[in-house]
Amino acid sequence: MWYNVGMKILLTGGTGYIGSHTAVELVAAGYKEIVIFDNLSNSKELVMAKIAEISGIEPEFVEGDILDKVALKGLFKKHKFDAVMHFAGLKAVGESVEKPLQYYETNVGGTVNLLEAMRVAGCKKIIFSSSATVYGEHAEVPYSEDAPTGQGITNPYGETKHVIEEILKDVAESESGWQVVILRYFNPVGNHPSGLIGEDPNGIPNNLMPIVMKVARGEMAELLIFGDDYDTPDGSGVRDFIHVVDLAKGHVAALEKLSGLAADDSAILIYNLGTGGGRSVFEVIATYEKHAGKKLPRRVVDRRLGDIGEVYAGVEKAARELGWKTELDLDDAMRDTLKFLG
Ligand code: NAD
Ligand code: WQD
Repeated sequence: MWYNVGMKILLTGGTGYIGSHTAVELVAAGYKEIVIFDNLSNSKELVMAKIAEISGIEPEFVEGDILDKVALKGLFKKHKFDAVMHFAGLKAVGESVEKPLQYYETNVGGTVNLLEAMRVAGCKKIIFSSSATVYGEHAEVPYSEDAPTGQGITNPYGETKHVIEEILKDVAESESGWQVVILRYFNPVGNHPSGLIGEDPNGIPNNLMPIVMKVARGEMAELLIFGDDYDTPDGSGVRDFIHVVDLAKGHVAALEKLSGLAADDSAILIYNLGTGGGRSVFEVIATYEKHAGKKLPRRVVDRRLGDIGEVYAGVEKAARELGWKTELDLDDAMRDTLKFLG
């Protein structure tokens, strides 16, 4: 099949963890006109050189904030984008409870600014980074895209993702030609097999793997395992851990889906991006330790507030409509994590 690889694509938040891996996979798939717009609040400009080292092409980098309407306007004036992949935002669940206004402002307000700049410029294709968190705590596994969303979300971060999804649906219905893909990520792990790019958050992370990495580096004393009394095979939490390279390829598949639509067709397409299976926290740790050849200091503590026992994705829709499924597993993710750790 022929795809429109001549498209010019904007990646907001493109120096971040998922955006940088997606930039690499876009270039690998032939998309060479990429512009990254990021305020570097949770990433480093050095990532640009790493993307170039891996892919042979350095996308254009613009330092800027999605809260800056003037900067966005200028960006869309300078470039005629065919599509936007919108990664920029704040993602620390715990921090969102302490700073809800900052999360609503950046995630929701920033997305509204971006959509307005797109509308004015006539760019109507957008792929949005949503999250399994929109399903709330009452959904049944495997989560299906048809399951209700927005009920029982336990933190402001998750609420922002739900609200943005609703905004995108309204925008897609507001005038013809809006083509929106909402990708609900499950638990991204691993990094590029080159070891050159990976998850390197500023500040104290919330997610399991960044914490494992901090403990491995000796920057945190021990890994706290949040509960071993869930109704799961080994008692620890079960999640759908997806290798970030597979996740990045899911974005290329979504873009190709969009480029196959007629220009004035409106669409709102929603896909889970996960492996379709759950692995436990103990399994992740054991797999990491197998590849590292040493044990991680760790201790089981009480369950974390708001956590649930088991989460994994239904993945048939993405397979059927995007022709995409994961190819890598937890062993790949842990091996690649160790390469990034160096
Ligand atoms: P990340 O923090 O590594 O990347 C986000 C990027 O956005 C960073 O480079 C940051 O500097 C930039 N950014 C933040 N605020 C900005 C602003 N106001 N203007 C411009 N740039 C800004 O996070 P990630 O893991 O790559 O996540 C990307 C997207 O995917 C986020 O929207 C996140 O909510 C979503 N998501 C992530 C996960 C996950 O577990 N990593 C899961 C589901 C959804
Ligand atoms: C995974 C498992 C923890 C840390 C969150 C968001 C979701 C998405 C991914 C952005 C759970 C356990 C964790 C630790 C532990 N992000 N754990 N010790 O909570 O599934 O999902 O990140 O959109 O929206 O809600 O991910 O990595 O925090 O936790 O035992 O120090 O690891 O209890 O079972 P989670 P996580």
